[in-house]
Amino acid sequence: MECDNNCSCCECGKDCLKADVIDKLIDEAKAVLKNAYAPFSNFRVGAAILTESGNLYKGCNVEDASFGGTICAERVAATASVAAEGYVRFKAIAVASEADDPAPPCGICRQFLSQFAGPEVPVFIVSTKNSQIKMVSFGNLMPYTFTKF
Ligand code: THU
Repeated sequence: MECDNNCSCCECGKDCLKADVIDKLIDEAKAVLKNAYAPFSNFRVGAAILTESGNLYKGCNVEDASFGGTICAERVAATASVAAEGYVRFKAIAVASEADDPAPPCGICRQFLSQFAGPEVPVFIVSTKNSQIKMVSFGNLMPYTFTKF
């Protein structure tokens, strides 16, 4: 796995997640991808979010004939976590897609996730096509968030 912290996990002092927890998160993202409703793009995405409370929430993209009504997997998972727990803090995020290379969350999702994820949160991006997994910190994905108005 490629890691932008140069982190081999459990040795960097950053309270890294254990390998089995990461594996489960990634497996859940891959599994929920199969439920995606994507008849227009045929691009299926699955997301799994681990919260600070230790719970796991999943989501897949759900497309709409209006196109604009489409919702991404990441926001489905995030809204599920809020519906279950109220305001939550995320510990880790996994996003799986069938792209040739791991496909990172879109801009709207980055902004949306920023309300619940700090810069230290690892985002595991997975391609189910070639089994490649890339880890990016949320802060590197979304360095300048819109938070105040
Ligand atoms: N999609 C996601 O689910 N997550 C992203 O971060 C990027 C895009 C979905 C939306 C749409 O159903 C399909 O992928 C093609 O854009």
